[in-house]
Amino acid sequence: MAPMTRSRADAAGVVGESTVRYYVQRATAGLVITEATNVSADAVGSPMTPGIWSDAQVEAWKKVTSAVHAEGGTIVMQLWHTGRVGHSDVRGGRLPVAPSAMAIQGQKHLTATGPKDYEVPRALTTDEVRATIDDFERGAKNARAAGFDGVELHGAFGYLPNQFLVDSVNQRTDEYGGSLENRARFVLEVMARLVGVWGEGRVGIRLSPTLAYNGMVDSDPLATFSYLIEQLNALPLAYLHLMRATPDAARFPSWPRDTLATFGPLFRGPLLVNGGYDRDSAEAVVEAGHAQAVSFGAPFVSNPDLVHRFEAGAPLAAGDRSTFYGGGEKGYVDYPALRDPAPAVAKGYWLVLATVTDPARFGQYTAVAGPTLASYGGRVLARGDVAEVVEGAVPRRPYFVEFPSYAAARACFGSAAYQDAIALRAGAADFDIVVVEGMPPGPPPTR
Ligand SMILES: Cc1cc2nc3c(=O)[nH]c(=O)nc-3n(C[C@H](O)[C@H](O)[C@H](O)COP(=O)(O)O)c2cc1C
Repeated sequence: MAPMTRSRADAAGVVGESTVRYYVQRATAGLVITEATNVSADAVGSPMTPGIWSDAQVEAWKKVTSAVHAEGGTIVMQLWHTGRVGHSDVRGGRLPVAPSAMAIQGQKHLTATGPKDYEVPRALTTDEVRATIDDFERGAKNARAAGFDGVELHGAFGYLPNQFLVDSVNQRTDEYGGSLENRARFVLEVMARLVGVWGEGRVGIRLSPTLAYNGMVDSDPLATFSYLIEQLNALPLAYLHLMRATPDAARFPSWPRDTLATFGPLFRGPLLVNGGYDRDSAEAVVEAGHAQAVSFGAPFVSNPDLVHRFEAGAPLAAGDRSTFYGGGEKGYVDYPALRDPAPAVAKGYWLVLATVTDPARFGQYTAVAGPTLASYGGRVLARGDVAEVVEGAVPRRPYFVEFPSYAAARACFGSAAYQDAIALRAGAADFDIVVVEGMPPGPPPTR
């Protein structure tokens, strides 16, 4: 699953329960790459995008990683600094920062109050460039603390690392600008730090050598990106995530026409490609050995079970672009999987909440716990009014939740969100939880 900004974090860059659900729904992707995630407050360019610099952000991401892992998924975080692709409106009045004080021309930036012209960013001092590299390293450490399986540097689409690379935008005269070696220095130093934190096979990088978006017009992308990729070969990377894009031939006659054929063979590790693939073209590129894997972006927005649909040759659902960026659960976690509704009882792992003599408190508990259970794939089979267990003189009403796996039930039970729900019940003597392992398929028991 390719990285996709969905702008559903809160104003402090903290992701919520719906984001847990969103990623869990897509955990069958094999490798999930998260939405671009800001490494510092200064990295932020767009509203409601998440971060990985504060403790609260790390705690929130832990819920995502543990839930995706409970589903057998693998998830890496895309680390982001937007550089000049931002606006003071979404940065508390501070101008965006960039290698050089040059604004993006001919495009507008989406802010919370509508599209705005780009401002001239403030050029980073050399010390600030070094501090920004430190921010990426902290992001990598925090991502590890949050339980991710690795990190990907967002080096594509004209964000800060890309801005350092491209000569028309990087006019610096210190060691981070000028020659090809100097322009590549920022990206290479960041990557070395990320590998320092994560070790071998855990760090990827995304590049878009032939995409002019956000003013990324290099005089010689072949030389720039060939050099960069050659240098990256010295690091034990997990992958290079390459965007294929066919540049406008009239505007850029000297640019390579076929990104994959030009740059792919230069990289000596696993190559992950992206951009407008469907099932068959993805199979073909992997079969031909031109790439080891293909990532899918937009199709995953509206097809949480994309892998299953590909396997089944099933049609894909179209996505609603108006809910791609920002908003609530609509267009985010409400795209159904093909198999919904799930079979009545699948695997029979049940979390049995034996309760309750006070219905009011039970309602309070279910309001908080319900979304958490659901985010771990928990499905309520029977509520308190269906069955009754008599223990001594007290009638106890069980609440049966089926999980897709025992691990999922355990992960849910141990999660901070679930503990919050339990805290509501503190001191209630009539509250009890039992995870029943390997309960045979069938309807929940009545006694
Ligand atoms: C809603 C949306 C948000 C995106 N956000 C990001 C992002 O945060 N980081 C990134 O590298 N690419 C981002 N992209 C680009 C996708 O990762 C991908 O490159 C693009 O959708 C093309 O692949 P596709 O044809 O499979 O959709 C985004 C794309 C979409 C549709």
